[in-house]
Amino acid sequence: MDVTGTVTGNGTNTADRSETEAQRTLHRVFGYDAFRGEQGAVIEHVVSGGDAVVLMPTGGGKSLCYQIPSLVRRGTGVVVSPLIALMQDQVDALRALGVRAGFMNSTQDFDERRSMEAQFLAGELDLLYLAPERLRLDSTLSLLARGEISVFAIDEAHCVAQWGHDFRPDYLALSVLGERWPDVPRIALTATATDATHQEITRRLGMPDAKHFVASFDRPNIQYRIVPKSDPKKQLLTFLKEEHEGDAGIVYCLSRASTEKIAEYLTRNGINAVPYHAGLDASTRATHQARFLREEGLVVVATIAFGMGIDKPDVRFVAHLDLPKSVEGYYQETGRAGRDGEPSTAWMAYGLQDVVQQRKLIQGGEGDEAHRRRAAAHLDSMLALCETVQCRRAQLLTYFGQEPTAANCGNCDTCLVPPETWDGTVVSQKLLSTVVRLKRERNQKFGAGQIIDILLGRKTAKVIQFDHDQLSVFGIGEELAEAEWRGVVRQLLAQGLLAVEGEYGTLVLTDDSATVLGREREVLLRKEPKKPTTRSSSSAGSKGAKGKAAVADLPASAVPVFEALRTWRGATAKEQGVPAYVIFHDATLREIATLHPSSLAELGSISGLGEKKLATYGEGVLEVLAETAPAAAAAPEAPAPTAPTPRAAAPAPAPARTKAPAAPQHSDPEFAWDEEPPEYE
Ligand SMILES: Nc1ncnc2c1ncn2[C@@H]1O[C@H](COP(=O)(O)OP(=O)(O)OP(=O)(O)O)[C@@H](O)[C@H]1O
Ligand SMILES: [Mg+2]
Ligand SMILES: [Zn+2]
Repeated sequence: MDVTGTVTGNGTNTADRSETEAQRTLHRVFGYDAFRGEQGAVIEHVVSGGDAVVLMPTGGGKSLCYQIPSLVRRGTGVVVSPLIALMQDQVDALRALGVRAGFMNSTQDFDERRSMEAQFLAGELDLLYLAPERLRLDSTLSLLARGEISVFAIDEAHCVAQWGHDFRPDYLALSVLGERWPDVPRIALTATATDATHQEITRRLGMPDAKHFVASFDRPNIQYRIVPKSDPKKQLLTFLKEEHEGDAGIVYCLSRASTEKIAEYLTRNGINAVPYHAGLDASTRATHQARFLREEGLVVVATIAFGMGIDKPDVRFVAHLDLPKSVEGYYQETGRAGRDGEPSTAWMAYGLQDVVQQRKLIQGGEGDEAHRRRAAAHLDSMLALCETVQCRRAQLLTYFGQEPTAANCGNCDTCLVPPETWDGTVVSQKLLSTVVRLKRERNQKFGAGQIIDILLGRKTAKVIQFDHDQLSVFGIGEELAEAEWRGVVRQLLAQGLLAVEGEYGTLVLTDDSATVLGREREVLLRKEPKKPTTRSSSSAGSKGAKGKAAVADLPASAVPVFEALRTWRGATAKEQGVPAYVIFHDATLREIATLHPSSLAELGSISGLGEKKLATYGEGVLEVLAETAPAAAAAPEAPAPTAPTPRAAAPAPAPARTKAPAAPQHSDPEFAWDEEPPEYE
């Protein structure tokens, strides 16, 4: 770890040597066989002193891109991250690998902070995590100036983008790093990939000379599905019961009240669920997050304030009950599913009310005209994704400026059950004429409900009150059912052929409406599926079995071994107060169960087992294997010991957590942008 990294030329000896060092660190510390995708190139570049901007999808492996340079180069790697509530977990996970990591944020008391400062100054830290609002303090900057820094990593770098979905003002101050430490390489990382965000990150962080690394944003194991919203609570429950019983997942709602109601509803219906939003007190939030990380199969019903950077590998589904405000937001949130590469679902229920609500929020929202235009453009892209009749994955990748690998991915709802389109020109004209007549003949504007009642010829109290049964358009739309009419309104709104206005979401014409009324264009509409597709209808497989994904590809004989290892992992995690996956991922347990190693040396060759974990847990694992071996040896050619092995000493406890995960404080900007939109009763 003595490579200074001042070399700038390419292909020099130093660069070659450091690459080897990086690879050795990957094997020895992290226990992984090979770099993923761009990781190797990024690390090589940063180790030799270059700046880098890294775009990689959620779960793509960005952390290694700064962790390994921090270990290879001299000094401490300083990581700027907005995820205060996760720092303890991140540091625990690193310490379990034998990495000397620490953090400084508002959750610590004076003594803890002092001790961290002392370790930093003594050169005893490989990695130091800091919140951006702490980094910008003069006291912090002068502390950093007194120590030795190997690399600055700016994680979740999209937070610097002012019009992005996660803007944090404190990120704007980070350009000072390049000015004060011109010789220390900087690496900015994000999973938000549009070109505009990309440019903004580079500009605002002052990194014009940085090399850019863009990984593929495809997440093939995530199945994307967007269903028409009718009774969202029930739809969600059915989705969970049919496809994800016992699985961990996140349900996103826009309003705080909804998260509580939905969590309560799920709990009443036998699904273990807790709410998470900015209005809950800090300790409840911390407890719910900790439970999500530590328990198996917990559902968190959250506002967008939850989930960023959480490295929980086995989140099996992400469900949206409200329309996200942008494709970037949708992609980031759905990306939290399936970080372990196992099949996962991104499911969303979306309806007319979402479009009306979001358009209203934009019109009535804060900010200038330019801001509103940008928000409207984001919404339009999101709506286009919802209404597309083409592959959703292809559309997502195209949105992020990437070439889809195939026109049809075979793993999204539109590929699995291609939606039919129909010529909706005539019905659109009927609907638009109703809006026109109300305006012209009565000087009135109404919302979708009343317009549809008029089209269906319903003599409701409100229709009678306004004499709407006297209109010539009364009852001209009986060929469609109410739900279908709502679909028409929704799609016209999405296509910009109709607009909503004002507090009550009244329907009004747009400039383009005239082209439909004047028969200058056809309107193609998507047929509303009678019954939403579910995974069980599109692929075989047992449903509802707890942990089914985890044992999916295991040979039958390895299943009991895997289960025994899981039980051991659960007990060990509990004892040490860390999430189970900090000890081993499911994938590692699966490999152990399948290969059934009989010695520490064999065990050490398994992915995810570095030096430290082998030393800490190796004996414990072999003990479990010895107990399960007689009944379940998966590979007969690798004889497992039949005689009981001597009881190994209990694994050395990893640094145990001394207190419950610290709660973020008031100054925590994590929740600044949590808003208050619609609720579900
Ligand atoms: N080369 C590798 N081989 C095997 N596993 C890897 C490798 N690189 C990363 N991983 C694993 O992939 C998972 C995701 O990595 P990481 O937390 O760095 O994702 P991320 O890109 O930071 O995502 P997010 O945007 O959600 O923060 C981690 O559990 C990590 O251990
Ligand atoms: Mg990350
Ligand atoms: Zn597809």
